[in-house]
Amino acid sequence: MSAPNSSYDPVAPSALDEAAVRAATETAEAAIAAAADLEQLKAVRIEHAGDRSPLALANREIGSLAPAARAEAGKRVGAARGRVKQALASRQHELEKERDERVLLEETVDVTMDYDRDPVGGRHPLTTIQERMADIFVSMGYDVVDGPEVESEWHNFDALNLGPDHPARSMQDTFFVESPDSGVVLRTHTSPVQIRTMLTQQPPIHMVAPGRVFRTDELDATHTPVFSQIEGLAVDRGITMAHLKGTLDHFAEQLFGEGLVTRLRPSYFPFTEPSAELDLQCFVCRGSSVGDPDHPCRTCSSEGWIEWGGCGMVNPRVLRACGIDPDEYSGFAFGMGLERTLMFRHGITDMRDMVEGDVRFTVPFGLEL
Ligand code: DAH
Repeated sequence: MSAPNSSYDPVAPSALDEAAVRAATETAEAAIAAAADLEQLKAVRIEHAGDRSPLALANREIGSLAPAARAEAGKRVGAARGRVKQALASRQHELEKERDERVLLEETVDVTMDYDRDPVGGRHPLTTIQERMADIFVSMGYDVVDGPEVESEWHNFDALNLGPDHPARSMQDTFFVESPDSGVVLRTHTSPVQIRTMLTQQPPIHMVAPGRVFRTDELDATHTPVFSQIEGLAVDRGITMAHLKGTLDHFAEQLFGEGLVTRLRPSYFPFTEPSAELDLQCFVCRGSSVGDPDHPCRTCSSEGWIEWGGCGMVNPRVLRACGIDPDEYSGFAFGMGLERTLMFRHGITDMRDMVEGDVRFTVPFGLEL
């Protein structure tokens, strides 16, 4: 036998030799076994069984072999591709099964689980603050008194020394019931409850009256035609402005924090004499933001004080209208808006949030009882 004539004898291309085919098959099988999910298996399929995979290339080269060698090479490559195909199919099956089991587990719905059919709402913060305020006065021995929302003009205005020509009586502010000369209005403040109390009770009187009041304002971010106030009244022998100031300071401390004080600024109300605007020391900065542009206070606009309400000594004319002798008795009174109090206490910027009754607004205030 002559030595191989290497320049004549066909040489099997290396991709087709047995070792290369085996190596390609083993690499493919290892990669298939290592594919951790269907996504990875897809990439492995392209790499090891796709058109450009080593075994596909080897398959393509079979045609270039001498006819005698084709059958054997074809068998070898065919078997290798069959093994890879088989491995891919079984790994695919395994991974699909794993995925299905996982999805079933992850998406399990426990139909026996309890759920909230009737979610509890939230108490409206107006109700809560109203009760809190009333509680503070109850602890000082005050009564909590109610009055009608549909009120006579006499209680709402005349008895409070708001004469017939007083601008507050005009149709621009007041909702009249039926006609403007019906003598019946929706109360524009809680002050008529003072009158009703003094008409039916002899001093000493200590009462607060929280409630709804009405004015002909359009609803916007800072106005609402229906809002709430709390009224306070104390009538006894020897009541002075010092009692008023001490009471308001205590109220402010109880509601906003230890050590807070109030400030009175001279003002005018027909039903009090003297009268004062009531300011609350800012409970956030306590005045430290005043003149300190580096540390502005949003709550008091760096004023140090927040306008809170009105107050004063009950006008002797009001006492007299209620049959109380101003030579024997004196009294103090105060009133403030609850929406306004809530707004600065909680940083609420739009009044409409308080009237719309959306549970998403009320719930964050908690279920304070
Ligand atoms: N009634 C006043 C108002 O609605 C508030 C008020 C001011 C009430 C002074 C008072 C008071 O009792 O003394 O604007």
